Amino acid sequence: MDGIKVGIVGCGNISGIYFRMMREVYGHILDLAACADLDPQRARAKAAENPGVKAMTVGKLLKDPGIRIVVNLTIPKAHYAVAMKALKAGKHVYGEKPLTVTRAQGRRLLALAKEKNLLVGNAPDTFMGGGIQTCRKLIDDGLIGDPVGATAFMMCHGHESWHPDPEFYYEKGGGPMFDMGPYYLTALVNLLGPVRRVTGSARISFPTRTITSAKKHGKVVPVEVPTHVAAVMDFANGAIGTLVTSFDVWAHDLPCIQVYGSKGSLQVPDPNGFGGPVKMRLQGEREWKEVALTHVADINRGTGVADMACALLRPGRPHRASGALAFHVLDIMHAVHEASLKGRHVMLGSSCARPPALPAGLARGALDP
Ligand SMILES: NC(=O)c1ccc[n+]([C@@H]2O[C@H](COP(=O)([O-])OP(=O)(O)OC[C@H]3O[C@@H](n4cnc5c(N)ncnc54)[C@H](O)[C@@H]3O)[C@@H](O)[C@H]2O)c1
Repeated sequence: MDGIKVGIVGCGNISGIYFRMMREVYGHILDLAACADLDPQRARAKAAENPGVKAMTVGKLLKDPGIRIVVNLTIPKAHYAVAMKALKAGKHVYGEKPLTVTRAQGRRLLALAKEKNLLVGNAPDTFMGGGIQTCRKLIDDGLIGDPVGATAFMMCHGHESWHPDPEFYYEKGGGPMFDMGPYYLTALVNLLGPVRRVTGSARISFPTRTITSAKKHGKVVPVEVPTHVAAVMDFANGAIGTLVTSFDVWAHDLPCIQVYGSKGSLQVPDPNGFGGPVKMRLQGEREWKEVALTHVADINRGTGVADMACALLRPGRPHRASGALAFHVLDIMHAVHEASLKGRHVMLGSSCARPPALPAGLARGALDP
C-alpha cells in the first residue's frame, strides 16, 4: 500500500510527537514529506531531525500536487485561516484542537470541505487509545448497565510555568475549556454520544498571568477568556454529565473522568493520553478493580491522521477524529460559556454520531482488522 503524502504546517511544541508517530508507527499509511512554519528556522530544524522531510514555505507546501493531507499544528487563532487555505488548495486537512475559534468559522470550514469533497479531521485522537477504547467496549458490552451520569475534572494552574510561548492559552480560543475541554468532551461523546443541552458558569479569577517559563520569564499576559468553567451537560441518551475545567486551581484530588451506570461505575483514564488504567466497580463490589486493556495503548498523536488516511485509501470507510465530532465539541464549549453569560440552559444546534469503536486486539499501527 502506498502511503498518503502529508505536509505539516506549524513546527512548534506539539509537532515533535506527530513527526515521530507518523514516521515510526504509521509510516506504512502516511508518507510525511514536508513541513512549514511562519518561522522558517523551526521548519528547517524539524526537517533536519527527520530525514526525507523537506522544509518549505506554507505557500510552496500547499502548491505541492503530491501532498494530500495538511496537518495543521498552528496555534488556535491560526487554525481557521490555515485550514481554509489548505482546503482551497484542494488538500484534506487534519488540525489540532480546537477546530476553530468561533462556531461560524467551524461551519464555514466544514461547508467548504463538503463542497470540495475533502475530509476534515481534528484532534484530539486520544479517544482512539487503549484506555478509552477499553472503556467504550465495557460500556457498549453493557458491563456498567445504562449510563446515568458522568463527572470530569481538568484543573491545574495554567501552562505559563512550562510552555515557552504560553500567551495563546489566555487569548480567545484558549482558556481551560477550549484548550483542555476537547479531550474530556471528545472522550465523553465517544463514550455516551452527543449532547443535547448544557448550562454552566464561568469566571476570570486573575486578570493577568505572569510567565515563569525560561524564555519569557516575568512577561505579564492579559487574560481574555474565563479560566474557571463549570458545565452541566444533558446527553441525548439521557445521561447527565458534569465537567469542571480550570487554570485557577493549585491542587485537587478528583478523578479525570468517571461514568456511572445502572449496574456499576467506570473510572476512565486521563483523556489527554492514550493509555490506562481503566478501573471498574460493580454493584455490591467493595473496591475498584483494574480491567486489562483490550486495545493498544502504546500510540500517540498522529493516530487520527493515519485513521483519516485509511478513509482516503478505502473510500466509504469513516474516519473517527472527524470534523463533525470536533464541531460538536466546539459547539458544546461555546454553549457552556453562553449559558453562563445568559444564566440559562442552551440547546445545542449540532449533533454527531459516535465515532465507530476500534476493533479489539489490533496490533500497534493497525487501524483496521
Ligand atoms: N503543547 C502541547 O502540549 C499541546 C498538546 C496538545 C495539543 N496542542 C495544540 O497544538 C497546537 C499547537 O500548540 P503548540 O504548543 O505546538 O504551539 P507552539 O506555539 O509551540 O507552535 C505553533 C507553531 O505554529 C506556527 N504558526 C503559527 N501560525 C502559523 C501560520 N499562520 N502559518 C504557519 N505556521 C504558524 C508558530 O510559528 C509555531 O512554530 C495548538 O492548537 C494546541 O492547542 C498543544
